[in-house]
Amino acid sequence: MNHTVTLPSGEQQTHPEGEPLLHLLKDNGLYSECQQGFCGACKTKVLCGTVRYLAQPLARIAEDEILPCCCTPTSDLKVSY
Ligand code: FES
Repeated sequence: MNHTVTLPSGEQQTHPEGEPLLHLLKDNGLYSECQQGFCGACKTKVLCGTVRYLAQPLARIAEDEILPCCCTPTSDLKVSY
């Protein structure tokens, strides 16, 4: 199933559930380091929507943040940096 991800610019992109969000956010200039949920560098605020983690991340995040390197959307998402 595909979901719509709305970026801070207002641009909307389609993203397939099951694929990490890293590729999408990388294409939009988000810095990432470990790409495995360790460093927290890709921390992104979610304004609405839900994700699930493909692997349990170790980096600490707030309730309204996600680690796009290791999660996939389970609904349409709106993110802010
Ligand atoms: S790139 Fe390190 S936690 Fe996402």
